[in-house]
Amino acid sequence: SDTIIEPFRIRSVEPIRFTEMAERKELLARAGYNPFLLRADDVLIDLLTDSGTGAMSSQQWSGMISSDESYAGSSSFYRLESAVHDITGFEHLIPTHQGRAAENVLFTTIASEGDVIPSNTHFDTTRAHVEHAGAEARDLVIEEGKKPRSQHPFKGNMDLEKLKATIREVGVENIPVIMITVTNNSGGGQPVSMENIRAVSEIARDHGIPFFIDACRFAENAWFIKSREEGFADKSPIDIARQMFNYAEGCTMSAKKDGMANIGGFLALNSDELASECRNLEILTEGFPTYGGMAGYDMEAVATGLYEALDEDYLRYRVRSIAYLGDKLMEAGVPIVQPTGGHAVYIDAKEMLPHIDSLEYPAWSFNNALYLLGGVRGVEIGSVMFGKQPDGSEKPAAMELVRLAFPRRVYTQSHVDYLAEVIIAAYQQRDQLTGYEIVEGPEVLRHFSARLQPL
Ligand code: F0G
Repeated sequence: SDTIIEPFRIRSVEPIRFTEMAERKELLARAGYNPFLLRADDVLIDLLTDSGTGAMSSQQWSGMISSDESYAGSSSFYRLESAVHDITGFEHLIPTHQGRAAENVLFTTIASEGDVIPSNTHFDTTRAHVEHAGAEARDLVIEEGKKPRSQHPFKGNMDLEKLKATIREVGVENIPVIMITVTNNSGGGQPVSMENIRAVSEIARDHGIPFFIDACRFAENAWFIKSREEGFADKSPIDIARQMFNYAEGCTMSAKKDGMANIGGFLALNSDELASECRNLEILTEGFPTYGGMAGYDMEAVATGLYEALDEDYLRYRVRSIAYLGDKLMEAGVPIVQPTGGHAVYIDAKEMLPHIDSLEYPAWSFNNALYLLGGVRGVEIGSVMFGKQPDGSEKPAAMELVRLAFPRRVYTQSHVDYLAEVIIAAYQQRDQLTGYEIVEGPEVLRHFSARLQPL
């Protein structure tokens, strides 16, 4: 059949609250025109993030009931260890409470002042941890990855020439690790090809530099390799994932994404020496090495979730849901990052709202319009998030995007039809949208708590 249906039925439901436009106007004003400050109850369709917001399966819940909450040597840890080993092949599992905690443990241990850590595009938390360790986070994504309308099938790929040039420029001794983020969240959720992962790993190996994967959305990336890269159509997602990890010496993981869990994460790696150094820090900041910030039941949920994320029917439905919204938007002329990525649709507000200057935050304006019109919450990835410079000045971000990230297994096709209606309606009223100014905001990560006002 041509219709791709949700590969699950629903046994437990959560009501969502309908509000009127007049009410939303008031709620948004009260929240300082910042959707982060809305109560989730006042949002109808919440696409703020795909992180920790997914629905768990009956299998995961049953594992959680029979979890082992022992402080040391919990059988739930060993179940997670065996799942991670089976899928990634890595020898050591260092559990953490979420992805950024794995980043903290890794970068505090291996990076120091003056180091450079190349990646396709570092996610914000990754960049923040690299910089916190005194090192430079350098983004080396291919040029196509920065062009919203380029149709390259693997826009998350690393530019190999730029990687080699970086190694020549800063020297092997100043590069403790080379990272690659799959899929490339900060660059539109775009995948990385197996060919690129292999090539990066070869360059890393030739120079004796460890190569790690930021694996948050590894299963979605495996699906793109299966459907777009020659030679993989007949391989299963799990075998593709195994091959991806086989090129690397380790990974950081937020289990809140393709771990299909509400919380959790890990660092996994091969080096005995590095693992024991990392465990020393893990005990300080996360917890004993057989739970590291997760309850036994969290480890059970992740152990099962990692396999569920690799299920073919699930992945087909997952990636299709995003593309389905993208297709409807493109048909109506709404400018989006193409092709659609694995976890989100990214709307290009700079292209859509040329009458709003970047420093009057066009993507913020469009995101707020979605809430006012339809109770939909996305997130601005533009100049409110990235514009503030360390010296206090403002500089427009490279792109002004509204990211609509899909929680896993949460919304159905009619929710998506509704979303398309709201987005298209907002697009049709685009000439009436105005910019915003920030009236109050903190120095760092201001998008989370700033208060704004329409101009
Ligand atoms: N790496 C990537 C690529 C991510 O997208 C995230 C989180 C992290 C690391 C950090 O993981 O949240 O478990 O500490 N991304 C979320 C998002 C927050 O909305 O994209 P975490």
